[in-house]
Amino acid sequence: MSITLSIIYLIATVTFVVGLKMLGHPETAKKGNLISALGMGLAIVGTIFLAEKEVPLIIYILIGLALAVGGIIGWIIAIKVEMTKMPELVSLFNGFGGASALLIGLVEFNKNIGVPIADKASASIITTIIAAIIIGSITFTGSLVAWAKLNGSLKDIRFPKYNLINNILFIGLVAFGTYIVLMNTDSAILMYSLLAASLVYGFLFVVPIGGADMPVVISLLNSLTGIAAAITGILYDNMVMLVGGILVGSAGLILTFAMCKAMNRSLASVIFGAFGAGSNAAEGSGGTIGGTVKKTTASDSAVLLNYSSKVVIVPGYGLAVAQAQHVIHELEELLTSRGVDVKYAIHPVAGRMPGHMNVLLAESNVDYGKLIEMDDINPQFPNTDVVLVVGANDVVNPAAHNDPSSPIYGMPILDVENAKHIIVNKRSMKPGYAGIENELFYNQKTNMLFGDAKQALTDLVAELKNM
Ligand code: TAP
Repeated sequence: MSITLSIIYLIATVTFVVGLKMLGHPETAKKGNLISALGMGLAIVGTIFLAEKEVPLIIYILIGLALAVGGIIGWIIAIKVEMTKMPELVSLFNGFGGASALLIGLVEFNKNIGVPIADKASASIITTIIAAIIIGSITFTGSLVAWAKLNGSLKDIRFPKYNLINNILFIGLVAFGTYIVLMNTDSAILMYSLLAASLVYGFLFVVPIGGADMPVVISLLNSLTGIAAAITGILYDNMVMLVGGILVGSAGLILTFAMCKAMNRSLASVIFGAFGAGSNAAEGSGGTIGGTVKKTTASDSAVLLNYSSKVVIVPGYGLAVAQAQHVIHELEELLTSRGVDVKYAIHPVAGRMPGHMNVLLAESNVDYGKLIEMDDINPQFPNTDVVLVVGANDVVNPAAHNDPSSPIYGMPILDVENAKHIIVNKRSMKPGYAGIENELFYNQKTNMLFGDAKQALTDLVAELKNM
């Protein structure tokens, strides 16, 4: 490798690390993303134009075409994607990362067909090829299944004894891969059988996992994509692929464990536990808790809020759907100008992606200091006059504390029921993402403000302005 290319790779590596660090705070996240993307661009250009071997012109044309087509499609999708569809997009990107690794593995294996591997590649190289094919394939089909589940086109499927079948298949895959390495075989039939079995395992691995466990799985698949990229980095002795892959792999794993902690679930129970199975998860609509639901109006809610001294807003997925982040900021500023202390309570898995609420509220320039994490806000609820829950459901469901048969039992929640008054805005009594009912809506202290969040908050602001 030329010294210039080594320097380019070093610069790119530094941009990845710096960019990743900057992603940790909303104020620097955009810049961090840009810096890492520039580093990646530099590494790609360097790899293409500073190759050691003579490259025929047709290869440059093909690479240019692939970059143009992929770049344009990626650009359009990223510009158009709605915030709430982001996890689906991340899943697709993960899947394509896995597909790249498996294709690289196949290409490298095919180079050896017809020639005994021992002559061409060491056992460590063939081990790497096999690992790229297995991990890439699992990531590819697993991510496509996750994407289909998130967009609702595929439901959870749990075959009888699926855990046992999956575990046997996984052990079989590892044994099969080891056999190929040890036997030094160049058999295409064996390789394609391994590929097919890995693709099937990726499907079977993700298809039973459901409900609130999906974000954890997506993060795990993200981590696998990184590991697959790192493996291909080893294959090509390419430092930037290796470091980039390791960063994605480790960041994904850290996020996986952080989300498991936020839901008080172990990774094993996410993978083998089948979220919602055998519990009281309701598909679709609510209606079995019973009790009285108190409805309220924008004008009554405005009065309650206006005469409070401390208000906590709990944003959830519905706020993002309604795109009500600007009007909620207006409401917060209005109340603050009347001397009310207003804070936002942020649950780690509120919304549909990690940091969803932080990003959404940053979009409307909400002061970052007003966003209070769950552990810090929970002790403050008993001193809170009014909690305004907007489009949030699972993250405020007391079943997490009270109902051992609930799929979210044990998950840390925002303890809004400890506040003096609760106003919940949503459109109906339907359950949230986890498909379970919420007894909070029947609480004596709760008033339901039904309607689309944007409209309801706009009405609230109008009523407040008239007071
Ligand atoms: P959810 O429990 O999904 O509840 C959102 C509520 O918003 C729904 O009950 C819905 O009720 C309401 N809603 C939808 N559109 C609305 C609109 N236009 N106006 C007003 N309300 C609207 O959301 P959450 O409390 O934020 O909890 C997040 C859930 O998603 C958790 O179960 C979590 O595990 C899961 N999840 C999280 C992530 C990450 S990483 N954050 C990723 C995937 C899944 P109506 O239909 O009655 O309006």
